[in-house]
Amino acid sequence: MLEVDALSSRYGRITALDSVNLRVDRGELVALVGANGAGKSTLLRALSGVQPTAAGSVRFEGADVTRASARARVRMGIVQVPEGRQVFGPLTVEDNLMLGAYVRPPAEIAGALEQVYALFPVLASKRRDAAGTLSGGQQQMLAMGRALMARPKLLLLDEPSMGLAPRLVAEIFATIRSLKDAATTILLVDQNARAALSVADRAYVLEVGRIALSGSGTELLDNPAVQQAYLGL
Ligand SMILES: Nc1ncnc2c1ncn2[C@@H]1O[C@H](COP(=O)(O)OP(=O)(O)O)[C@@H](O)[C@H]1O
Ligand SMILES: [Mg+2]
Repeated sequence: MLEVDALSSRYGRITALDSVNLRVDRGELVALVGANGAGKSTLLRALSGVQPTAAGSVRFEGADVTRASARARVRMGIVQVPEGRQVFGPLTVEDNLMLGAYVRPPAEIAGALEQVYALFPVLASKRRDAAGTLSGGQQQMLAMGRALMARPKLLLLDEPSMGLAPRLVAEIFATIRSLKDAATTILLVDQNARAALSVADRAYVLEVGRIALSGSGTELLDNPAVQQAYLGL
């Protein structure tokens, strides 16, 4: 579904991504693990089209989207949940969700809302509340719900469990698992490497802008170098 070939990206003289190769097959959940500053967010933003790239290519469902706008990529089905949630605090929960639906035909929107409310019942009960009054975990659900309103084929999740209490981390990972079970293809970045690798079919380790390792989630969980660097063993 997604093929990234020799992708590089820079901030001025800083090379944030250095010839990254990666693929995500349809229906897979692929995790991207790496230290702070490794380039994980830069890679997700490059895939969603909001981060300029210096070299390499991105193909999605066979089409070269390297030069496609972020808006065009959302229409094709590449949808990102950004790091830090970025919900619109003064707007209601439902209006935040509606913002995610701008690519959907109006006739589909009511059904899409009901699907999101079924997945996240707490959002239904707070649909008229300002998003800014939600807890961190609820805001993460809202950010994920907003992305789902666009009916993603490929969902890019950047640090969904960041800053959440352990019980909510478990809840977010359970939701990610249920999205996967519902056949959403997912590329997941999360600082909780153990949880991310546990839920992933395959994973890549990114070190200062380069892919250092890849394998199945289980292989990387069992890899001594991964255990030492990312799992605190
Ligand atoms: N807006 C920016 N301007 C300059 N450098 C940046 C910017 N955003 C990220 N970087 C740098 O790019 C590298 C990768 O950052 P990032 O993709 O945010 O890493 P990660 O998400 O893995 O923590 C880091 O060295 C970071 O300091
Ligand atoms: Mg990041």
